[in-house]
Amino acid sequence: MRHLLGIRDLKREEIEEILETAEGFADVLKRDIKKVPTLRGKTVVNLFFEPSTRTRTSFELAAKRLSADVINFSVPTSAVVKGESLIDTAMTIQALGADFVVVRHSCSGVPHLLSRHLRASVINAGDGINEHPTQALLDAFTIKRHKGGFKGLKVAIVGDILHSRVAKSNIRCLKTLGAEVRLVGPPTLVPEGFREEGVEVYWDMDEGLRGVDVIMMLRIQLERQDRGFFPSKNEYFRLWGLTPERLSLAARDAIVMHPGPMNRGIEIDTDVADSERSVILEQVTNGIATRMAVLYTLAVNP
Ligand code: CP
Repeated sequence: MRHLLGIRDLKREEIEEILETAEGFADVLKRDIKKVPTLRGKTVVNLFFEPSTRTRTSFELAAKRLSADVINFSVPTSAVVKGESLIDTAMTIQALGADFVVVRHSCSGVPHLLSRHLRASVINAGDGINEHPTQALLDAFTIKRHKGGFKGLKVAIVGDILHSRVAKSNIRCLKTLGAEVRLVGPPTLVPEGFREEGVEVYWDMDEGLRGVDVIMMLRIQLERQDRGFFPSKNEYFRLWGLTPERLSLAARDAIVMHPGPMNRGIEIDTDVADSERSVILEQVTNGIATRMAVLYTLAVNP
């Protein structure tokens, strides 16, 4: 593993190794001194062409906890606005000494393109509607901590699957680990073709949630929708919003996940988002240990 471009490139053993390594780093993060010297002398550059709160911050913290130097590249104040190309920007960052380039971009395939030009390890922090592999890994880490394992686990991923890179990575990750994955949402956002991924498709929310162990809600990604996929936000919440009543259809100990950012009152009721069943903030916390594990794995397997 020189780069982490997508879950589709990972074997089951590689995913399991990252999750085990993340457990070790989660222990480090409980100590008074939450730091190890693993990446001392290395440089991690966060190259984000799209907004981010969770992913950028947790990559920065993960790199700092591993003692790396971190540069947060700011697109609006960079020479990108003067017309510098993506490849020239990335090559410039490499010439400044980057060992890891963590990239987020609105175009699918940008991390793959950079990996063909750079000696540095490229990590995909979300590319268009394609993949968001570290989100799926931190989600798997969170599920494993709550449920112990994946075999036979019923996971419902609900909402805008079509435009969601989180869903694509999670489908691959959870299927590889042995979970049963249901995709739930309107036919416009969960087209029939997803069945080819080996998942079940539900166009009825109540049916889709019945008996599941994990509910993963997704944000409606209006910035990636080029036309109306549903009549209105009110209508969407009425049909596809996770309310306490709908949550009661899942297993009694089902957990509620969301990669964030959440739109309360559109895909999730605020009482559910803040309930004891919600592990949404745990997902954020687990992102640091998981991203430490990814950086470590790439560093020891160059
Ligand atoms: N889950 C996620 O990618 O969140 P951010 O956009 O805040 O990084």
